[in-house]
Amino acid sequence: MSDPLVLTEVRDRVGLARLNNPRAYNALSPDLMRTLVDTLRAWDADDNIGAMVITGNEKVFAAGADVKTMSQASAVEMLYSGYIELFDVLATIRKPIIAAVAGWALGGGLELALACDIIIAAENAKFGQPEINLGIIPGAGGTQRLARTLGKYLTMEMVLNDRRLSAEEAARFGLVNRVVPVESYLDEALALARQIAARAPVAVRLGKEAVNYAFESTLSAGLAHERRLFYLLFATEDQSEGMRAFLEKREPTWRGQ
Ligand code: CAA
Repeated sequence: MSDPLVLTEVRDRVGLARLNNPRAYNALSPDLMRTLVDTLRAWDADDNIGAMVITGNEKVFAAGADVKTMSQASAVEMLYSGYIELFDVLATIRKPIIAAVAGWALGGGLELALACDIIIAAENAKFGQPEINLGIIPGAGGTQRLARTLGKYLTMEMVLNDRRLSAEEAARFGLVNRVVPVESYLDEALALARQIAARAPVAVRLGKEAVNYAFESTLSAGLAHERRLFYLLFATEDQSEGMRAFLEKREPTWRGQ
């Protein structure tokens, strides 16, 4: 039997998914992406999990789509494979997802990280959209999410001329939350996930929804949406508990209700 394409473990209300296709720099086959997305969706529906981490290994996060497979594909086969749509499914996960990136995050690998909510980078992380070298462009969100994150000009250089960013550059340009030593990048991501997973579940869910709405809407529509979610939280037990605990100078007990 072949090795699983995604290795999973759950600890302290955090699901950890490790991409596991080391023979091809963690190239993202449709099977790997499907396994990943199925795992994350199951965790999204599991009340015992509050946050998730996606990682690769210390040398590579993911080098993008599997070029060997893709080189033989027709347009219609690409369409029917459903590979790219899996990135859209990932964006519908309601619980926070942290990408813990060491080594290469290229092509679909970077697009996978961009579909997450927080990116922790190891010092050796390198980010790029090298599709132009293959005669194509990013197709799983790279042009759109990078432009919204980095702005037009740097994105153009990355998409049109395979400009790659070091971890330090990625942090400077706002592509990652922080850069940490290779030895601790996964621990750092897991610790952050544990902290978020221990917070008020409904507020975390609506907070993610509200921030993501900023990328889909005008400012006034976004403000109105935020306000509705804010008012909604006053209907939760966790809001009463959180405010009471603050006033009573004790830790709150969240029930996710
Ligand atoms: N798909 C399939 N195989 C890959 C791969 C990929 N994305 N990336 C690397 N490999 C394979 C190489 O073919 C090579 O295989 P062999 O040992 O059988 O020859 C092996 O991994 C090692 O690669 P290199 O010899 O190139 O190793 P390196 O250390 O010199 O460079 C690298 C490593 C920087 C990751 C380099 O391989 C690279 O730049 N890869 C680019 C991959 C790429 O173009 N990704 C974008 C794909 S398109 C896409 O992602 C679109 C999408 O999802 C929507």
